[in-house]
Amino acid sequence: GEATVRLDPAFTVGPVRPRTFGSFVEHMGRCVYTGIYEPEHPDADELGFRTDVAQLVRELGVTTVRYPGGNFVSNYRWEDGVGPKADRPTQLDLAWRSVETNQVGTDDFVDWARGVGVEPMMAVNLGTRGIQEAVELLLYCNAETGTSWPDRRAKNGHTEPHDIRVWCLGNEMDGPWQMGHKTAEEYARVAEEAARAMRRFDDTLELVACGSSNRGMPTFGTWERVVLERCFDLVDHISAHAYYEPVDGDVDSFLASGEDMHRFIESVVATADHVAAVKGSDKRIMVSFDEWNVWFQGRFDGENSLAIREAPELIEDVYDVTDAVVVGSLLITLLQHTDRVAMACQAQLVNVIAPIATRAGGGAWRQTIFHPFALTARYARGTVLRPAVVCDVVQTKAFGPVDQVVVTATHDEETGDLAVFVVNRSRTEATTLTLDVAAAVGGHDTAYALVEHLTLHDDDTSATNTEEHPDRVTPRPGDAAVAGSTLTATLPPTSWHCIRLS
Ligand code: AHR
Repeated sequence: GEATVRLDPAFTVGPVRPRTFGSFVEHMGRCVYTGIYEPEHPDADELGFRTDVAQLVRELGVTTVRYPGGNFVSNYRWEDGVGPKADRPTQLDLAWRSVETNQVGTDDFVDWARGVGVEPMMAVNLGTRGIQEAVELLLYCNAETGTSWPDRRAKNGHTEPHDIRVWCLGNEMDGPWQMGHKTAEEYARVAEEAARAMRRFDDTLELVACGSSNRGMPTFGTWERVVLERCFDLVDHISAHAYYEPVDGDVDSFLASGEDMHRFIESVVATADHVAAVKGSDKRIMVSFDEWNVWFQGRFDGENSLAIREAPELIEDVYDVTDAVVVGSLLITLLQHTDRVAMACQAQLVNVIAPIATRAGGGAWRQTIFHPFALTARYARGTVLRPAVVCDVVQTKAFGPVDQVVVTATHDEETGDLAVFVVNRSRTEATTLTLDVAAAVGGHDTAYALVEHLTLHDDDTSATNTEEHPDRVTPRPGDAAVAGSTLTATLPPTSWHCIRLS
């Protein structure tokens, strides 16, 4: 097939937002324990954090990290995780039926986050707990010393406030699996009052209300409306979560997962703007897509079936080439919606459905999905453009006909550099990409030159990376060539591409 793409820096979506490249660390499985933290590991630093993992997190280019859950937060007593480690109680976390030693808690996580250079994003427990505990955690983290909670933080070694700017008001409160699950009305009230109380301390916080756990939730749409009718003036963002897998082996629809994410974002934005219209407000609520990834949920029997263990191997999906192409395409979708998606968190960061895998006492390596994330985070700069695309369609069961080629591009106004991210989501057809940058060249003295074309593709789409073969699947040079203001490149079936022009 043929795909023709025209880029014009005059046609823009919005700024590239660093927080689009967020991630998520939950006290779940081996994300924290033997993931980011393993004091017995030969590469552990003086705080017990694995430096080999930290190095990979930096390379991944993660900007913001949501913590401590996830379902876990909805039954978490944050006080158990601060103070001298020897005094911290071991608890039974009923979200994941796991033994929680509390050897990592709020202060430790913030130390880790600052050490690797990421912004912590904190979630409060609005499941089994409420407004008081949320406010106390906020004061513990952000207040200047002189009253009890911040003084306790100072006693625990942190005189300076943690200054956490983004706060999630609970997690997936629409889900019956959530501890303290609520109806939309129940959640709206507690979120409203928690937000009001938290804002009384600091009105500049960015607050995220819980949206829907996926687009297929029976309450989807109604939930967002009811929550925002109550919380509209008190929150900045509403969350969206989505996990993708090939349902019943339907890989064509799986490759088009970005279509679901796109429809999801559009519906949430429409609902938020409806509430704004009814309220006569020009305020625009933004989407925090704070859990997204490929997750083979079909292979998970559910939390009730779990034997109680400490740091169990939970949902450690091993990703292949197709999964990496889907992850790359989901990042394209997020960038295409940068006008309304303020932030996003890939779930999760280490071991638990994650780009980084570790062995306890052993190595740390990059899963296939690491690569599209790292390259997009590194090279998406400046402004997201709105390319004009003409291409063939792929028929899918879940979404009907969809474009075979999805593309986004960013334009760095300072340097003039262009970065183009492209996916061919056909499993069978290669496509020739013709990229016309004439309009971009117009604004520059010299024509564009190709800097690099990297592609994630393999004739064996089921290839994976392992500790023994960590680089089995890595980005390889593509065949892009530039002549005048036209670039051509081959897009093999099931492939992701990062093309840079300068
Ligand atoms: O990321 C795994 C789980 O998925 C999270 O704990 C929960 O929020 C979501 O259902």
